[in-house]
Amino acid sequence: MRTEPTPDPAVVDLLRAATKVTVMTGAGMSAESGVPTFRDAQTGLWEEFDAASLATPEAWEDDPEMVWPWYLWRARMVRGVEPNAGHLALAELARHKDVRLVTQNVDDLHERAGSDVLAHLHGSLLAFRCTDCGAPAPEPELPEEPTSRAMPPVCAECGGYVRPGVVWFGESLALEPFEAAERAHEDADIVLVIGTSGVVFPAAALPITSRGLGIPVVEINPDETELSDLVQHAWRTTAAAGLPLLVEAATRPV
Ligand code: APR
Repeated sequence: MRTEPTPDPAVVDLLRAATKVTVMTGAGMSAESGVPTFRDAQTGLWEEFDAASLATPEAWEDDPEMVWPWYLWRARMVRGVEPNAGHLALAELARHKDVRLVTQNVDDLHERAGSDVLAHLHGSLLAFRCTDCGAPAPEPELPEEPTSRAMPPVCAECGGYVRPGVVWFGESLALEPFEAAERAHEDADIVLVIGTSGVVFPAAALPITSRGLGIPVVEINPDETELSDLVQHAWRTTAAAGLPLLVEAATRPV
């Protein structure tokens, strides 16, 4: 485990020598952009709710008018923030390496930083669709202020409620992005795991697979996680502080 402000020279060497770089990001990647992580306490209208209890098909079925404004507010928040230095560093890394970016995040900050995302494992907050027929729906107007209750719009095709295009707890991941993510974790020279607690499966199984195949796995996270004991190198730093230093060190001309 390393807490120093500079990256471990061994990690710099591994990244410098790598051609295929698989990157797995979680909520911590966007924390310094101002997007709270899933395990952060909620504030304001939803402070008495645990985020994980709102992000379920059961919550939606029980009370869509309560869940819908929470997602509108999250979408509004994501629209109002900017990629951080960590997102930008990963986009820069892709100018030097074959980067396969896999994210659990439902925001679009990697794309806005200039990265191509191979797989959004948990879907996208900004891709709305019908709950019943799955037809894509236009982005609704996002409120200036949070509201505690709001009716979801209805689908133009079938009249079902429009829902956010995220994967809720208990729902299956879309097969295609998951398989692409699996391939990227099975065939890589190095795997960087950034800002994920490693508690949500099957996403957390991907770097474990890489490690089992002997691929070096590097964790970037200010705190210890469920994956920390498994990884080859852990750097206790944040995404926005650590990634620019690591990418600069590994791509600088020698
Ligand atoms: N830089 C890097 N890591 C950070 C930072 C930061 N600035 N701030 C916090 N972290 C770390 C935390 O230490 C924690 O390990 O980010 C992690 C965030 O954990 P979670 O909130 O559990 O996020 P994630 O791992 O992405 O959750 C997985 O669970 O709730 C679902 O679908 C949701 O995609 C999410 C999934």
